[in-house]
Amino acid sequence: MRKRKFLLVGNWKLNHNKQETANFFETCISKLGEIKYVDIAIAPMCLYLDFCQKFTKNTIVKLSAQNCFYEKSGAYTGEYAAQNLAELGVEFCIVGHSERRNILGETDIVIAKKTRACLAANLVPIVCVGESLAEREAGKTEKIIAQQVSTVLEANLEYKSNSLVFAYEPIWAIGTGKTATCEQIQEIHVYIREIITQKFGQDHASKTQILYGGSVKPENIKQISSCSDVDGALAGGASLRVDSFLSMVAELSDLGHAQQNSIG
Ligand code: PGA
Repeated sequence: MRKRKFLLVGNWKLNHNKQETANFFETCISKLGEIKYVDIAIAPMCLYLDFCQKFTKNTIVKLSAQNCFYEKSGAYTGEYAAQNLAELGVEFCIVGHSERRNILGETDIVIAKKTRACLAANLVPIVCVGESLAEREAGKTEKIIAQQVSTVLEANLEYKSNSLVFAYEPIWAIGTGKTATCEQIQEIHVYIREIITQKFGQDHASKTQILYGGSVKPENIKQISSCSDVDGALAGGASLRVDSFLSMVAELSDLGHAQQNSIG
């Protein structure tokens, strides 16, 4: 039987204008039946989070932000706080996506502070970690992951097991159509859980959801999520279209149903 519920988060990045956002939610929500075995969230462009609320309110679709700032207020032109997102009814916030690490120069320390700000605002941070191709080829994957995960955990020693989600996203698999193999994914997910176990104990680690991200689509989500330490996915490209998003929900829901009813 599964210990952790599946979670599917659609990361839209800088895609879908206001009309496209409205079209997605209208169609998606009208086609979503009763979903028991998977929680679902969409991370649209931040500008439209408030607008999205009117579609998602009282539905099972949750909203996620793609980013936030770590201070609550002050002279930080262009930023917005985790608290402001919470006011809009947002429940999750992606933190430390590799695009922000690489394009905008976010460091592990900044990401740890953003995680802290989310927890203080009662948002569930989805903390992204992952190695580049060069780092993997140089045999540095575990070192990089340990550094990224530990920095966040050490700055957030009071976090509760169900209040923080990790997403393992190997950079070389994002938007490239290349997915890591199940063995590679499972190995790193186990490793992340070991790091959590060392700091917080096994019970805590076994309750923390760890998602996989990187070219997840309807055709591979079930196989990837069958790995025992994978608790769902953070999907970019495949979450933009209603049909492929709903297919991923259906695949994951099927798997959740099968695992829930299995013995052991
Ligand atoms: P992708 O993006 O599914 O398009 O590879 C995933 C992500 O960046 O979170």
